[in-house]
Amino acid sequence: MKLAVVGGGSTYTPELIDGFARLRDTLPVNELVLIDPAAQRLDLVGGLAKRIFARQGHPGTITVTSDLDAGVRDAGAVLLQLRVGGQAARNEDETWPLECGCVGQETTGAGGLAKALRTVPVVLDIAERVREAAPDAWIIDFTNPVGIMTRALLQAGHKAVGLCNVAIGFQRKFAALLDVTPGEVHLDHVGLNHLTWERAVRIGGPGGENVLPRLLAGHGDAIAADLHLPRTILDRLGVVPSYYLRYFYAHDEVVRELRTKPSRAAEVAAIEAQLLDMYADPALAEKPELLAKRGGAFYSEAAVALASSLLRDTGDVQVVNTYNNGTLPFLPDNAVIEVPATVGASGTAPLPVPPLDPLYAGLVANVTAYEDLALEAALHGGRDRVFKALLSHPLIGQYEYADALTDRLIAHNREHLAWA
Ligand code: G6P
Ligand code: MN
Repeated sequence: MKLAVVGGGSTYTPELIDGFARLRDTLPVNELVLIDPAAQRLDLVGGLAKRIFARQGHPGTITVTSDLDAGVRDAGAVLLQLRVGGQAARNEDETWPLECGCVGQETTGAGGLAKALRTVPVVLDIAERVREAAPDAWIIDFTNPVGIMTRALLQAGHKAVGLCNVAIGFQRKFAALLDVTPGEVHLDHVGLNHLTWERAVRIGGPGGENVLPRLLAGHGDAIAADLHLPRTILDRLGVVPSYYLRYFYAHDEVVRELRTKPSRAAEVAAIEAQLLDMYADPALAEKPELLAKRGGAFYSEAAVALASSLLRDTGDVQVVNTYNNGTLPFLPDNAVIEVPATVGASGTAPLPVPPLDPLYAGLVANVTAYEDLALEAALHGGRDRVFKALLSHPLIGQYEYADALTDRLIAHNREHLAWA
């Protein structure tokens, strides 16, 4: 089985390689290609990747290349994990919205729109080339913003599934708190990418006993502390929101906080410099502890599980980003939602979802409309489309903010926007 990773020079890649090595029975990869335009970085990351495979006795070969078409040729699955403009562009996304009193974040709000505008054309171009060189390949998209990216890919007719590690992160955390294996924990996870709630935590499968009330009673403080939300919010709602909901439920508090400290991009850039130094050491043959300071925990487990189910037609249930197709009846069929779905060779099919309380449905519908307008802006460009997407966003909503943010977005991203 051949797999290709676009953005293979990412400092995250050793996490992925470690997963491929440990989980080789779930996903027997015999050829892995890391593709990246940054040749020097790719060499460093590729070197460590090869040493991880060798140390763990993995028989597969790893090659590195900057040639996308050759790299993806005849792959069974292609993982997309790229970041247009790197941490420098992310740093801007996280900074200029704060000037308008709006959250500066890589996927939420105006910063997330900027990222979408830079990224959609690049990802669609890559996907077209994948379709030429590997017509049967599944595209697994980890590139943010995953909801908008997945919708762009599906709308263009690609075999694509969007992936995020938020659900698997909760699954692992709750399993540890409940002292059961992760496989026993099924989440009633619902919403859009980076806008989700855990409404139930079931033991033993989708129909199993809901232990969320017990989990909150016993570990509510720890769970709330992790999310930087007050415990009382969890108790009053009776659900566990993802930490991205903090940008909504505590927007102004987050803005005040972000104004007093360096951006996450700056933090990540410092971690990355250290990581790359470590990767250059020929004695290193495992993923370093420091990688845990990045947000990608369990990304490899999620990616291996998804690729395995798509390529080996297992039909098991995983949380993915896929077409709504009536699952949430208040959204269009072609909205992309993040829910548990069965996964097999023919793709993903969401499990039925019980009706969503208006408290969540309202936000989901609003952000879906924003994502729709964001994709229009990314595909067709133009100041007006950017303005409308921003005006529609529940964290923006006023024309003065939308105008000011539109100007800043365009000014900071001109080199990445063909139409600007
Ligand atoms: C989590 C999210 C990803 C996001 C990452 C950021 O993994 O699910 O979508 O890209 O965090 O982590 P970072 O270390 O780059 O801040
Ligand atoms: Mn994510």
